[in-house]
Amino acid sequence: MARFDERVAVVTGAASGIGEAVVRRLVAEGAQVIGGDLSAERLQALAGDLGAAFRGVVTDVTVESDVEAMVATATDAWGRLDLAFNVAGGARPGPIVDLTEADWDATVDLVLKGVFLSVKHEARVMRAAGGGAVVNVSSLNAHVPMRGGGSYAAGKGGVEMLTRTAALELAEDGIRVNSVLPGLVRTPGTAAVFDRPRVHEAFLARIPLGRAADPDEVAGPCLYLASDDARYVTGTALVVDGGWEITGYPDVRALGS
Ligand SMILES: NC(=O)c1ccc[n+]([C@@H]2O[C@H](COP(=O)([O-])OP(=O)(O)OC[C@H]3O[C@@H](n4cnc5c(N)ncnc54)[C@H](O)[C@@H]3O)[C@@H](O)[C@H]2O)c1
Repeated sequence: MARFDERVAVVTGAASGIGEAVVRRLVAEGAQVIGGDLSAERLQALAGDLGAAFRGVVTDVTVESDVEAMVATATDAWGRLDLAFNVAGGARPGPIVDLTEADWDATVDLVLKGVFLSVKHEARVMRAAGGGAVVNVSSLNAHVPMRGGGSYAAGKGGVEMLTRTAALELAEDGIRVNSVLPGLVRTPGTAAVFDRPRVHEAFLARIPLGRAADPDEVAGPCLYLASDDARYVTGTALVVDGGWEITGYPDVRALGS
């Protein structure tokens, strides 16, 4: 038996980076997976790769009816939902004094409201079936601020507290809820860091393990929290950052490219 045989999972932000790595690991370990993402094209490519164990559903996690439809696809296709990984995220950064209200709203809606809507609808279905496990991908920025990241860091901090609140409310339904806080991960979403050698170097100087993570190195801890090995773990935040939190954050403003 593989670890996630006969489990049904939903993954948001499934078409790239950490979300895609979670999908690939889940399928490799026996699960049937619904992936929600904005990108129809990349979902289709992933479905081509993974076959019948994966279905992509174009989903905007900031739109409640989309999230509801994504969850319904899991129950329609496979009769239930056991696991959920809320990974979709991104940011429109800017210093607080210059940040527009529209950019604040776009970032906080994506990173925080998107997770709220996802947990809400995933948990309704899991509760009806007797339980499940939810993993929300937050960020090291929930604990460590960065310049220009006010909306993102505030939203990610919110994800950590939302996770703890959901863990409290849903424990009696047999649903565990935890968060993962990645540091620097090499994905399409962080290409701007890796494209600027001095910026990349400044980041690495803060990471005791001396390198960024591959997406799979974040997917592994996500799957652990969803697995039976973590059956007594709920409401916690697992920092996956190569030790970065113990050193602090670089000031990259003067480093150019
Ligand atoms: N990469 C890192 O260093 C890092 C560090 C800490 C936290 N994170 C968090 O991890 C998560 C994944 O990051 P990544 O680097 O893999 O990003 P990525 O940009 O490679 O992938 C993000 C995916 O989310 C999708 N997405 C964006 N908005 C969406 C929406 N409204 N609805 C549905 N899907 C949407 C995108 O289409 C994309 O496929 C994010 O929540 C991010 O904040 C990443």
